[in-house]
Amino acid sequence: MDVRALFLGPKGENKNFFKEMLQEAVDSNISWRKTFHPLDPYLFRTKEGHSEHFRNTLYETEDVLIRLSQQLQEKSLPWFSPRYMGHMNSDTLMVANLAYVMTMLYNPNNCAEEASPITTQLEVEAGRDLCELFGYSRDHAWGHITSGGTVANIEGLWLARNLKALPLSIAAHPQAKHLVEGLSQQQLLNLPVRQTLDLISALEQQHIFEEVNNNSIRSTGLHQGQLGKVLIPRSKHYSWLKAMDILGLGQDQIVPIDVDHNYRIDIASLQKSVEELIKAGTPILAVVTVVGTTEEGSVDPVHEVIALRNHCEQEQGISFYVHCDAAYGGYVRSMFVDEQAQFLPYNELIARYRQADLIPEGVQWPKPEVYAAFQAMDAVDSITVDPHKSGYIPYSAGAITYRDKRILRLLSYHAEYTTSAETNDIPLGPSILEGSKAGATAAAVWATHQVVPLNLSGYGPVIGAGIVTADWLSNKLKRLEFSCGERQFRTHLMMHPDYHMVNFGFKEVGNDCLKQYNILNQRFYEATSFISGRTFQKNFLTSSTSLSQAEHGGAPEAFVQQMGFSLEQWEQEGKVYVLRAAVMTQFLRDRQEFEEYWLAISQEFQHLITNILHQIDSPT
Ligand SMILES: Cc1ncc(COP(=O)(O)O)c(C=O)c1O
Repeated sequence: MDVRALFLGPKGENKNFFKEMLQEAVDSNISWRKTFHPLDPYLFRTKEGHSEHFRNTLYETEDVLIRLSQQLQEKSLPWFSPRYMGHMNSDTLMVANLAYVMTMLYNPNNCAEEASPITTQLEVEAGRDLCELFGYSRDHAWGHITSGGTVANIEGLWLARNLKALPLSIAAHPQAKHLVEGLSQQQLLNLPVRQTLDLISALEQQHIFEEVNNNSIRSTGLHQGQLGKVLIPRSKHYSWLKAMDILGLGQDQIVPIDVDHNYRIDIASLQKSVEELIKAGTPILAVVTVVGTTEEGSVDPVHEVIALRNHCEQEQGISFYVHCDAAYGGYVRSMFVDEQAQFLPYNELIARYRQADLIPEGVQWPKPEVYAAFQAMDAVDSITVDPHKSGYIPYSAGAITYRDKRILRLLSYHAEYTTSAETNDIPLGPSILEGSKAGATAAAVWATHQVVPLNLSGYGPVIGAGIVTADWLSNKLKRLEFSCGERQFRTHLMMHPDYHMVNFGFKEVGNDCLKQYNILNQRFYEATSFISGRTFQKNFLTSSTSLSQAEHGGAPEAFVQQMGFSLEQWEQEGKVYVLRAAVMTQFLRDRQEFEEYWLAISQEFQHLITNILHQIDSPT
């Protein structure tokens, strides 16, 4: 596979192929229309098409489309260019774009199979691909597409909530209670996931599952705090707050877990919270881990969270659901699995990297703890993963996968009008959070997995390119020094990335005021984003974030001190601003090209800082 043939390219290099395939999409759709009952009447006669009203309607349509195109060109973000290094965006894969457009012309709705006979199948296949990527069984797991990571997270927590509540409903049901006889309320709220799933099977055998499930939380609602706490690292995406709110669990039931200086969940803090909750007799509804934190790209030690759960189950009879939010980093597991979907032993993996030049010697990836975290993903109960992030697939494509598909029963809602033939064993609409949704997305994800499989020889070089460039860029940013007139500046790297998010800041040599540093970097962001005007005129574009004490606890202290600011400054200011570059580009994988790029952007940095200083010094 040649990665250069996968993207339209920063200059539209693959335009001929792209146009041909677009033409094919349109032609084949028109031909399909024409051959469906060819003797049915036409919409209008040729001469009617020349009437004034008719022509005007077409001219108006053209006008609007041209205006839209102008606006898009003026204000859109040039994600195809390596000059854009900000949010998790880059050029998207041609196959995904083409499959999307081709399918969109048929407008299938994956809410019900009868409205999407092909794309529902493709969604199920794509879901299976993702399950396999995570080491789940293709047959016993279940995955489907969502609009994005937010919906996937909400759905994951919805399931965890219903799962936790089911044993209480079983205990209250006259024909079901024998299944949990002798168990205390505390034990009912601490059953391991697999045991609750076995109870579902037992209820189904007695044909009382629906009744028991309908007497559970989805009908009765929630008494405050009844199901316990949800333990989420401070690095969480804000979709978790939405999820707690919408599901009626309440944000007060979140126990924020500290993160370490690498912005990974701090296992000692997690363990402490777990122990305190166990001691207080408070159930733990779920623990959330993050693989690819939104602001730092950090990878939580999933393996240690799983080990902690195993320990709690074995030593204390306490269990909880574990969800992994890998919206950003999920596709990166392709960097670890071979063509037979086997997670490779570390040494074998490194040998493959060198042999195929995926990760060259000297690039610091994967760190052993990151390797162990990806390996342990097969043991979590559910995983959020966004094809529209590290899958290089256009919006809106998120997904969720569940380790054991029996869990589906907890969400299912039957709707008579959407059920089609008896062959319908794929209850997409009734078993997911959303209703109507584009079959085009499913086609885009499925087609992409066909061309770019979820393994080392498929996504390997695609994702690997960003990882390598991020490593090179990080090393440059550790050392950059330049002067603006009399004043000296240095870049500081927040940490070496776990994945490919590079966070950094500009500091004036000798400045000991954190506030001033924050202002300078915020100005830099403003100058390198849509905020200060036309994006197409920019030489470099990035994103930023502010890491605050309130949100991140003490984690940012290390970076603040590394830059030479005192802890008093940190206490006083309470936040540190960083520039945030997700390096997803495919187009800087050649060392020579990277060096030329670096020369250009490092000069641009100097130029931008000089301008900013000028504005600060003469504000009018
Ligand atoms: C870790 C994580 N989870 C969830 C989300 C939400 O995903 P979406 O924007 O697709 O809803 C994001 C988005 O950046 C994320 O980084």
